[in-house]
This record gives sequence, C-alpha cells and structure tokens, in this order.
Amino acid sequence: MKFLVSNWKMNGDVEFAENFFEKVNRIDTKNRVIVCPPFPLLHKFKDFSHSLGAQNCSERTSGAFTGEISPLLLKDLGCEYVIIGHSERRRMFNESDETIYKKYKTLTDLNLTPIVCIGETEEERSEWRDVLSIQLNKFKDDGNLSRAIIAYEPIWSIGTGKTPTAAEIHEVLNFIKRTTHSKCPTLYGGSVNIKNISDILRIPSIDGVLIGGASLKIEEFSEMVRCSVC
Ligand code: PGA
Repeated sequence: MKFLVSNWKMNGDVEFAENFFEKVNRIDTKNRVIVCPPFPLLHKFKDFSHSLGAQNCSERTSGAFTGEISPLLLKDLGCEYVIIGHSERRRMFNESDETIYKKYKTLTDLNLTPIVCIGETEEERSEWRDVLSIQLNKFKDDGNLSRAIIAYEPIWSIGTGKTPTAAEIHEVLNFIKRTTHSKCPTLYGGSVNIKNISDILRIPSIDGVLIGGASLKIEEFSEMVRCSVC
C-alpha cells in the first residue's frame, strides 16, 4: 500500500470538487488516496470512499483567533490527515519549525495524522542534510512520530517539472528514517505526474507521493489512482 496525497493548494471551486468526487470516488485501489481540497470544499467530500485531508490548521482547537481553522472542526468534517509545514506556508506565511511542531502536537493529541513537509531550496541543495536535520530536530525521538507522515518536498522541484533522481530520493528518505529513529511513512513530493509516478513509487524507501499540479487534472489523477505502479 502506498499513499497518494492530492494537494489542491488554493485551486478548485464547487463545480470542480463535484466533478473530482464523481470521477475519483469508488476507484478501486490498494493504495491510500488522501484528497486535500481547500477548507470550504471539504464538506463536498462527505461519504467519499477515499480519505480526506486539510492543507493546514491552527495549532489551537478553539478561541478568539479570527480566520484560523480548528483541527477539531476538520475532524468533524471527516478529515483524518492534515498537511503541515508545506514550503509555501513556511516561506510565504513565515511558519517556523516551532509553530509546525505545535500543530503536529495538537493534531496527534486529537488522533489526526499530520503530514509534515520538509525540504531544501535550490541554494541549499548541497547542504540538504543540515537543512532537513534542523527541520526534523523537534520530531526526533518524539513518541508520536510513528503516527505521523513525513513528506520530503525539495522546494526546487515543486511545480517546476524538475525531480531528484531515484537514488537521491532514496538517500534522503533513508536519511529521514535514520534521523528520526522512526518507522513513520516517508513520502516524496515535487512534480510527480502520470509519467514519473511508477518509477518514483518503485523507490525502495518510499511509502507514497504528494501530488500538487497533476492531481488537479482529474483524468490524470484518476489514472494515477487506478494504476500507480503498473
Ligand atoms: P507539484 O506540488 O506536484 O505541483 O510540484 C507538490 C506540492 O507542493 O505538494
């Protein structure tokens, strides 16, 4: 079983969600498909045959925090997973490792599964070990980590069409497993599409993929769900 996570980012509308639901719902697969639409579209996935996730959440569960989204509410809406620490949130919304760890704690306390994203920039490529070690620092030896998922998403590969080699991905995912002393699933994300998904999912250390742009093409994503390792 591999994880296939669809991250819509700030894309899609009601009609798109309805189409997506209709086409992807009930596709037979042995993999775990997790769809992460924008918050206002989550309710469209009631009775979805696959799993539902959110793209972010508050580190708190309630209170006077205008505009924030409680993970408790996400759970109510049927989410089992929440992506946290996506590089777009780290870079554009100044999310720190500290904040991401707080979100992770809140989520695991609520029995929701955090999908923790980490990754290096193009400039940091030669020192990826140091960068990832810092991002993973708080998670090392955390007793809850086995209940989380870690997604390695090199920033230079997101939305660019560029991907690391299979050997590079394998090395990084092994490094994550070693560094965290954990058996938590490790995913790769960054320019995964119908053409490269089979090769990527054959990497021995990989437990799944996080797919952005290509998961917005409903036919292409359906095909990936149907046939990701054939
Ligand atoms: P991409 O995005 O597949 O469009 O590169 C992946 C992500 O940001 O999660």
